[in-house]
Order: sequence, then C-alpha cells, then structure tokens
Amino acid sequence: MYAFICISDQCNLACKYCFYEIGHLKRKNDILSINNFLKIACWLARVGFTGVSITGGEPTLVPHLIDCIKVLKNLGIYSNLVSNGTQLTLPLCKELEEAGLDSISISLDSLDAGTHNSCRGLFAETKEGYNNIMLSKIKDIEISLSVHRNNVQDTANFVSYFRNKGQKVCINFPYASPYSESTWSLENPLPLIIKMLRENNLDERDKIFLSSYKRFYETGYLDGKCKMGRSVFFIDSKGSLLPCPFRDDLKLNNYINLNRSDFLDTIDTQYTHISNRCLSRKCVNLFISKKYDDSKT
Ligand SMILES: C[S@@+](CC[C@H](N)C(=O)[O-])C[C@H]1O[C@@H](n2cnc3c(N)ncnc32)[C@H](O)[C@@H]1O
Ligand code: SF4
Repeated sequence: MYAFICISDQCNLACKYCFYEIGHLKRKNDILSINNFLKIACWLARVGFTGVSITGGEPTLVPHLIDCIKVLKNLGIYSNLVSNGTQLTLPLCKELEEAGLDSISISLDSLDAGTHNSCRGLFAETKEGYNNIMLSKIKDIEISLSVHRNNVQDTANFVSYFRNKGQKVCINFPYASPYSESTWSLENPLPLIIKMLRENNLDERDKIFLSSYKRFYETGYLDGKCKMGRSVFFIDSKGSLLPCPFRDDLKLNNYINLNRSDFLDTIDTQYTHISNRCLSRKCVNLFISKKYDDSKT
C-alpha cells in the first residue's frame, strides 16, 4: 500500500489551476507536526505500507521535512517528495540526499519562462532547484508537467526534450475535465490524448494513464482504475486519512489504533463503494494508476 501525506497545505506559489486555488480543496493552514508524522509513519509501516509521497502545499517550506524523510528511511519505507522546486537550494538538496530520499517529482510547466510563469511563477528559481537536485546523488527525479491551455502546444516537445535526456516525465491534465469550469482547462483534451497515445515516446505508465483519462473524460467514471481508497490513501495536514483528497466526508481520524486486519476490514466496508465509480469527479488524473509505482507498493 502507498500513502500521499500532505505535511502542509501552505505554499509560496498560487498556481492558477491548483485545486487549492480553484477551491476544490481548502487550505487548512495546518502543519503536520513531526510527532504526528512519526506516529502515522510507524502505523503505516506496521500495517504494511511500503511507499510514501510527501506532498503539500509546498513541503519544502516545512522546517521538519528532513526529519520526516529520515523517519521513513528508518522504517524502511520508500520516500518520494513532490515539490515546486523553488526552494531546492544546494544545501537542501544535500540534506535530502543524506536523509535518504528515494525520489523527487518537480513540477514544471514549460521550458519557456513566460509560459511557466503565466500559470505557476518563479521559473528561474524552479530551474535552479531542478539543476541543484540534478547535481545530487538522488537519481530518481521526475518532472511533473501539468498541461493547460497556455502550454498545450509545447507538450510533445517538452516531453521529448526531457525523455531524450533520459529524464522521467509525468503528465497531468489539471481541470481538463468535463466537470471543471476553470479557464485554465483545455476545452477538449481528447485530440491531444489520442495523438499522444499514438506517439512512440510513451512508456507503459503513460499509456495506462492516458487511456484511463480518456475514459474518464468520455464517461465521467474511472472504470475501477483508481486505486485511491483501495491500495493508495491520502493523509491530510491534520493527520486524517482519506480515500482521496476530495473525499473529506469519508475521513478516518483514529485509524492509527487499527491493526492491519481491522484497517483492511474498515476500508472494505467504508470505501468499497467508491472504488469502482469515482463520485467526486474532481481528480483530474493525479491518482489514476500514475504517480506511484506499483512495484513499490
Ligand atoms: C498540489 S501540488 C503539491 C506539491 C508541490 N507544491 C508542487 O506543485 O509540485 C502536486 C502536483 O499537483 C498538480 N496539480 C495541482 N492542481 C492540480 C489539479 N487541479 N489537477 C491536477 N493536478 C494538479 C501540480 O501541478 C503538482 O504537479
Ligand atoms: S506549487 Fe503546488 S501546491 Fe503550490 S499552488 Fe502550485 S500546484 Fe498548488
């Protein structure tokens, strides 16, 4: 099993498509303390979780981030950090490396400063952060590309540029959903998705994701492909466990008292009905068979 842990929903950017900015998620302005992180991580290890993505908001703003990574390392849990890259100074990269971080995903919208800044901001800082992490010994580095109306025409070039250098790229379609009203969404992402599915530079994960996304766009349902609430879970900055960030109504608060078998029973009874048909329809791909590697769960 795999968990996304939001250690803080505070951020130094205000990306125009971000689910916090659009209002699909509320910033609670909480920071998950190191004590609570430790308790949660020990429980995760006890019940059989093998991987964690530390996310936010922007996790690099949290002073005890390095301690969180050390906790995961000591428990033998695979660690991934999801970051906007803007705070990745050389000393921080060194600390991340020494703490034993296994992998990092950095969000970048474009190779062009104007295009990136039109939606996210701090291009120069993001690029520097990327360059710094490339100098570290952390070799599992992924670029997270969010496709929107300002960068859609560059998608193929962007992906090829990085993949030709042997770099992993993960593609998101924020708010490219028939249920979204964001002006940043693509009016109709299907032609691009179909074109990409026919291209050669896709890996198996892309194909699974793009096919799932295509089905989601066409039908509004995830066809049982979403693993949230089944083998992948979200823990918010208050420490509550949710099947997915958009199902605050299904959160569990006292889960760290559960042993593995009680936990599996609980999610079986409480979350089974959401696993085949997504009811929130707000997740525009982040968690569909993507972002985490099954082999590590
Ligand atoms: C919420 S951010 C948190 C980590 C960090 N602040 C960052 O930007 O990478 C994680 C990822 O979600 C993506 N994202 C934000 N809003 C989204 C949305 N509405 N739909 C899909 N992806 C989204 C971001 O581009 C980023 O790659
Ligand atoms: S950097 Fe990440 S959390 Fe912050 S606004 Fe952008 S997408 Fe949202």
